[in-house]
Amino acid sequence: MMQFRVVVRCLLGVLLVLPLVGFAQAESCLTAECHADFTAINEPHFPGWEDECTSCHDPATETHPATETQDFILIADGAELCSQCHDMSFDQSQIHAPVASGECLICHQPHGRTAETTLKGDGLKNLCLMCHDGFDPELEYVHGPVAVGACTVCHDPHQSDQPFRLLKPVKQLCLSCHQNFAEGLMAAPVVHPPVRDEDCTSCHLPHQSRHLFLLKEKMPDLCVTCHEEVGTAARRSRHKHRALQSEKGCGQCHSTHFSERKGLLPTSQKDLCLDCHRHDKKKRPEGLKGLEGDLSENTMVHGPIRDGECSSCHNPHGSDFLKLLSDDYPEAFYAPYEEGAYDFCLTCHDKNLLRFENTSIYTEFRNGKENLHYKHVVNSRKGRTCRACHDPHVSPLPALINETGASFGDWAIPTRYERTETGGSCTPGCHRTLQYDRNQPVDYQK
Ligand code: HEC
Ligand code: HEC
Ligand code: HEC
Ligand code: HEC
Ligand code: HEC
Ligand code: HEC
Ligand code: HEC
Ligand code: HEC
Ligand code: HEC
Ligand code: HEC
Ligand code: HEC
Ligand code: HEC
Ligand code: HEC
Repeated sequence: MMQFRVVVRCLLGVLLVLPLVGFAQAESCLTAECHADFTAINEPHFPGWEDECTSCHDPATETHPATETQDFILIADGAELCSQCHDMSFDQSQIHAPVASGECLICHQPHGRTAETTLKGDGLKNLCLMCHDGFDPELEYVHGPVAVGACTVCHDPHQSDQPFRLLKPVKQLCLSCHQNFAEGLMAAPVVHPPVRDEDCTSCHLPHQSRHLFLLKEKMPDLCVTCHEEVGTAARRSRHKHRALQSEKGCGQCHSTHFSERKGLLPTSQKDLCLDCHRHDKKKRPEGLKGLEGDLSENTMVHGPIRDGECSSCHNPHGSDFLKLLSDDYPEAFYAPYEEGAYDFCLTCHDKNLLRFENTSIYTEFRNGKENLHYKHVVNSRKGRTCRACHDPHVSPLPALINETGASFGDWAIPTRYERTETGGSCTPGCHRTLQYDRNQPVDYQK
């Protein structure tokens, strides 16, 4: 990666020249009296440097020990001195400003130093921070390599063809250390498009941040800058989902980078939702009864849930409709049918269910031809909502008939439904036991 190469030829050349100018290098410049401080250098610029003063200092000004003037001047200035021995070619597109201006000595010690390298300063980080401010020690979260000052694991101090003189393109650079991550990314069937197509720095800061995980912005602002419609649903809808209001926000339901499943969900949708909505007598008495345990143990599971979906009926981000539903569904117990009122159920179920007073095809809930859906829901001053008879999720009774009953004030009206080959009966809290039969209609006037 580095472009410097020590040119041995040059060193030898200097050695050959020495006897000719008659400089008494044998009496070392480093004695107990002279330049004693240099003996502390335990990491010299190069081995044998103590005999090579004249490779860099001009010995022609030999009067030196007597005078206090600037003797032994350097044989060349700036980068030119270094290029006596180091093959220098700065031909890459990004050259660090102090390198371009030949100020090698801002960062390097010409003689050597007491610590590991020829670099100046106490540690690499402080060297760089001599000129670069903007690293705020108050910021809470600092990237591991930055905290220990390993600036050059990511940046070349001199030059590179990558922006910001990075050693590699950003994503490659990040993944070169985050190898677990790289493996997960390769294997995952679903990858978040910005992770796939953009740099990691579209969401993360490389050095430090005031937000956990070095994020550029706090959650969920980070997500909703790109997903405005979700942000609007979360903030503006009439019915908000408390799951989004918590600190973990989007991360409660989505993996950020990649996932096994569509929608970047961490588990199946059903398990995800039930994680918070499962009924548990002690912990969550308000949870969804009948959805605990294995759904398949129940006789009747509503189609979409059987297929593992909750989001075909609920918008998990927020909704203008009751209970985060995707469309209109009456809130009141009594809600006679009118255009639009039951759109929620009727996007999936045939509208004809409620259109005809008499039918022999559109519903099984009929007495002869008399449409009992029509009778209960439409043709009544007190039209009953579907919840009076159906559970939207699951039921041990056929046709999702609500076993425990719908709330009617403080009371849950039981249905006590029984099905027969050709009809059924119920003994609800609403009226005496009544039967219906599709083949031999019951005469209710009797
Ligand atoms: C690789 C080139 C190089 C070699 C070899 C070298 N010097 Fe220097 N020396 C320099 C440079 C460059 C400076 C100017 C440093 C500055 O301006 O910060 C310098 C500065 C000095 C200074 C004045 C400032 C100081 O750091 O005290 C002394 C004294 C000195 N050198 C003595 C020596 C002696 C003695 C030797 C041999 C034992 C030696 N140098 C070998 C490059 C070299
Ligand atoms: C007289 C020849 C000579 C000159 C002039 C010279 N160097 Fe070197 N430099 C060397 C040699 C020899 C090595 C050791 C190379 C090795 O170990 O492979 C070296 C090594 C280095 C290293 C690596 C040290 C390390 O810790 O890994 C740096 C940095 C360096 N030189 C910077 C400079 C700079 C900056 C200048 C100009 C101020 C300069 N050199 C001038 C001969 C020279
Ligand atoms: C902004 C500070 C800075 C400046 C300016 C700078 N260097 Fe360096 N240089 C470094 C750092 C840091 C390293 C050590 C890199 C590492 O950690 O591997 C280094 C390493 C080197 C090395 C040896 C390591 C290698 O990769 O070969 C040489 C030789 C060198 N620099 C020469 C120069 C020369 C010549 C100049 C002036 C043209 C110069 N440097 C200017 C910071 C600087
Ligand atoms: C002597 C001062 C000085 C030192 C020391 C210094 N830099 Fe710089 N650096 C500069 C200047 C000047 C610029 C150009 C700033 C600009 O363009 O706005 C720069 C630019 C940069 C840039 C941005 C490059 C770009 O393309 O915009 C990076 C990254 C950088 N330096 C990293 C480092 C690292 C890492 C170190 C320590 C090894 C370091 N700098 C030490 C002066 C310095
Ligand atoms: C983990 C890799 C990594 C480390 C370690 C790292 N940087 Fe950076 N640095 C980057 C990346 C990536 C960018 C480009 C930022 C962007 O795309 O917005 C950058 C940009 C910069 C810039 C120019 C933009 C700015 O933020 O001012 C400077 C200067 C800089 N780094 C200096 C440093 C210094 C000094 C250190 C050591 C204290 C350091 N970096 C350590 C990855 C790193
Ligand atoms: C030189 C190796 C290295 C490189 C390159 C690197 N990282 Fe890291 N990163 C680390 C280490 C080490 C940690 C700390 C790991 C830990 O604590 O488990 C870390 C932690 C993180 C964290 C978690 C921070 C937290 O608060 O837990 C994020 C996010 C991160 N890196 C993102 C990035 C991004 C983005 C890049 C590319 C710009 C990148 N890393 C490049 C080594 C690296
Ligand atoms: C769409 C924004 C986004 C992008 C792009 C992104 N991240 Fe993240 N990253 C996050 C968020 C948010 C977190 C917080 C925790 C979480 O959800 O996993 C995070 C956490 C992390 C963590 C620490 C937690 C962990 O899972 O280990 C690492 C490391 C990380 N990201 C690396 C990367 C790397 C490497 C890339 C580029 C390949 C990248 N990220 C791209 C948003 C992003
Ligand atoms: C830089 C822009 C950007 C950011 C930031 C961003 N996303 Fe995305 N996300 C996209 C794009 C582009 C798509 C693909 C198109 C779409 O579905 O809107 C996408 C798709 C998704 C998907 C659907 C994936 C699928 O398989 O259907 C989810 C879920 C998602 N993002 C969640 C998040 C979360 C959570 C965050 C915050 C951690 C986030 N996004 C941050 C750009 C972004
Ligand atoms: C309570 C769980 C939950 C929370 C919290 C959540 N989502 Fe979702 N999100 C889902 C589900 C479930 C889907 C549907 C996934 C599918 O396609 O199967 C989804 C789908 C998405 C999609 C795909 C397009 C769409 O609108 O359907 C995006 C983008 C998205 N979510 C972003 C976000 C963002 C951003 C946040 C945080 C503001 C967030 N989600 C919070 C559960 C959640
Ligand atoms: C991290 C926990 C969590 C997850 C995961 C979660 N929810 Fe919720 N959900 C809540 C909380 C808390 C409430 C508010 C409960 C309350 O007010 O009693 C709520 C309320 C609801 C409500 C009632 C809203 C209202 O207006 O009364 C519905 C419907 C709902 N969630 C559906 C879902 C669906 C569908 C999923 C899966 C996509 C899901 N939830 C995932 C925590 C969660
Ligand atoms: C076929 C549509 C449909 C599906 C699929 C569906 N729900 Fe519902 N859900 C409803 C309806 C309708 C209500 C409103 C019931 C009422 O108010 O009568 C509701 C209410 C809720 C409530 C609020 C309960 C309360 O007492 O306030 C939660 C929580 C909930 N559903 C979670 C889920 C979860 C979790 C899933 C996936 C396992 C799911 N739903 C799947 C239609 C559905
Ligand atoms: C008074 C109780 C009651 C009400 C109110 C009610 N249903 Fe039903 N529904 C039933 C009964 C009982 C069955 C089972 C009929 C059979 O299979 O014998 C049924 C069956 C169904 C079926 C299965 C297909 C069919 O028609 O046989 C659907 C779909 C249905 N109802 C949807 C709805 C919708 C949508 C609403 C609200 C607009 C609603 N129901 C209101 C009692 C009711
Ligand atoms: C997202 C689509 C969707 C929505 C919305 C929906 N359902 Fe269903 N429903 C289904 C599917 C799919 C089935 C299963 C059909 C099958 O297995 O053939 C089903 C089955 C039923 C059944 C049982 C039918 C039988 O075979 O006995 C009833 C009752 C029912 N739904 C009532 C309702 C009610 C009441 C609503 C409104 C609260 C509603 N559905 C909303 C998709 C939906």
